Amino acid sequence: MLEGKKILLVITGGIAAYKSLELIRLLQVNKASVVPVMTKSSQQFVTPLSVSAIAGSKVYTELFDLTAEAEMGHIELSRSADIILVAPASADFLSKMAQGTCDDLASTLLLATDKPVLVAPSMNVRMWHHPATQRNLGAIRDDGIVTIGPNQGDMACGEFGFGRMSEPAEVITFLNSYFKEGPLSGKRIIVTSGTTHEMMDPIRYIANKSSGAQGTAIASALADLGANVVFITGPSAVATPPNVDLVNIETGREMYKAVLDQLPADVAVFVAAVGDWYFDEVAEQKIKKDNERLPVLKFKENPDILRYVSNLQENRPQLVIGFAAETSDVHKNAETKFKKKGCDWIIANDVSDSTGVMGGDENKITIFTKKKKEDWPLMSKKSVARKLAAKICDALEL
Ligand SMILES: Cc1cc2nc3c(=O)[nH]c(=O)nc-3n(C[C@H](O)[C@H](O)[C@H](O)COP(=O)(O)O)c2cc1C
Repeated sequence: MLEGKKILLVITGGIAAYKSLELIRLLQVNKASVVPVMTKSSQQFVTPLSVSAIAGSKVYTELFDLTAEAEMGHIELSRSADIILVAPASADFLSKMAQGTCDDLASTLLLATDKPVLVAPSMNVRMWHHPATQRNLGAIRDDGIVTIGPNQGDMACGEFGFGRMSEPAEVITFLNSYFKEGPLSGKRIIVTSGTTHEMMDPIRYIANKSSGAQGTAIASALADLGANVVFITGPSAVATPPNVDLVNIETGREMYKAVLDQLPADVAVFVAAVGDWYFDEVAEQKIKKDNERLPVLKFKENPDILRYVSNLQENRPQLVIGFAAETSDVHKNAETKFKKKGCDWIIANDVSDSTGVMGGDENKITIFTKKKKEDWPLMSKKSVARKLAAKICDALEL
């Protein structure tokens, strides 16, 4: 899959620049060739000499370089590879990409290229969650740029959270999947997963017991068939598959916005257990216990993502699939939901405590389509995912 591919690797100035050396090595193990481009800041973290020695290639660093420009002009360089991979992608570089700034070689190449661009962001957790970074990410995704990671974990700065660059092996898995030809190649599929946290005050929230295991398995199975999967997940106990384009959200309203931001798509599979309600007012400070009286909490209804997307006049995915997690009258409730939402399929599952579905490894589902109802036997969530991915291929006549 990666064999014979040419990768223009842009290394920007983040602490994870050291990972680019291992990334180059693994790309070569996978028989891809690498031409490195380094920003000025990235050279503070790794030297062009190390990068060049491992890549076995000249390292491009300067826009105004007479020799390089005569050998291969910057426009030619921007189009010389199958893809441009920016790893690590600093917050600063994402900002430049979002603005279309081109004040050095790396950023100019990205504006001049006609090739697909993938970025593996890497930064401190606060930088990652900063509204400016999230705005920039939204803008570059709208431009068709694919993001790989980042992961959650311990950071070099001693903090914990999202912002760690995906490990080089995960980037390779992603690229292998990206280049893999499968029945769903060229299809863009949105999968939502996990629970949501509806905040009451800065530390308390309402959530549900969804682990994210079923949504994660579905995202992974679709990506394995070649789909470009946008995986929009709320808090989840399960590791994100490395071959999907990850969007993290926390609340139901954030999930709604993220889904709309990611349209158009060919298929949408809404697996997430989105909270039905959010608190009308989120207290700025922790609500204190008052022995005289109980707090009065008011709710508002979260936007209904499934119904909204199912009824879009423009940009409606060809196939919209919803999940109905029920604890009683499962089939009856799922059928009512199916009629109300306007989606193409509803997948009913019994999530009452006795089934162990929420948080467990197995699931027993019933699929309601416009023509019929299919009961699937109890099987692992991964098997449900693979079978569902095959059924989606059939529905798209692939
Ligand atoms: C020690 C150190 C570590 C840094 N790590 C990161 C990082 O991981 N991610 C990031 O976005 N910026 C990081 N920065 C800040 C960037 O290097 C800075 O924004 C720089 O302008 C990025 O330049 P570039 O995008 O042109 O490569 C770090 C700075 C220092 C001094």
